[in-house]
Amino acid sequence: PPVSPFAIAFDAERLTLSPEGPTLTRRMSDLEGLFLDQSAWAESAAGDNPVVYTVTSSPVPEINRELPQSITTIFPGATAGELWMTKGHQHPDHQGEIYLALKGRGGLLMFDGERVEWLDMTPGTIGYIPPGWAHRSVNTGDEPYAFLAVYPGGAGHDYGWVLTHGMGSRAYLDASGSVDLRPYAG
Ligand code: 6PG
Ligand code: NI
Repeated sequence: PPVSPFAIAFDAERLTLSPEGPTLTRRMSDLEGLFLDQSAWAESAAGDNPVVYTVTSSPVPEINRELPQSITTIFPGATAGELWMTKGHQHPDHQGEIYLALKGRGGLLMFDGERVEWLDMTPGTIGYIPPGWAHRSVNTGDEPYAFLAVYPGGAGHDYGWVLTHGMGSRAYLDASGSVDLRPYAG
């Protein structure tokens, strides 16, 4: 049965949604094959295995015609210079999505298999992910970067696409602290 209308309390300080649906925590060990420097990744994953990001959602089901939301919080850090990021994924049926930056400083990296786009994300920025663009978020600052995502319930997550095609670019910081996008390689 469809979900009945309901209100969700958003706590802008704690970055929580209430009522709360499924949540997940991604540690370094969950990001296998994604950082360019595989040995730096392996050392970190086998060592203190830090939490790289968390995702908390409202209880709207991930099924067609529903419109779920979630908040992702990426902690600040870098692995061999490559900024901490989400795994990144493609939506299997190429559905679009929007992100609203809430806190901290980040970037929204998008790749359609040929073209790469980068959007700077600061609180108040709405990033639009068009159909068919794989998307990854990156923390470019020195505090947690958090954003709200709103997506079609049937969108799904194809993580294999990124392992096969990459994301077009990788994000680093240059000596002055500006984002330095490098060709994907590896
Ligand atoms: C989605 C959103 C978003 C995303 C998280 C974690 O489609 O659900 O894009 O909620 O899943 O930011 O990123 P990864 O799914 O790439 O780990
Ligand atoms: Ni998505």
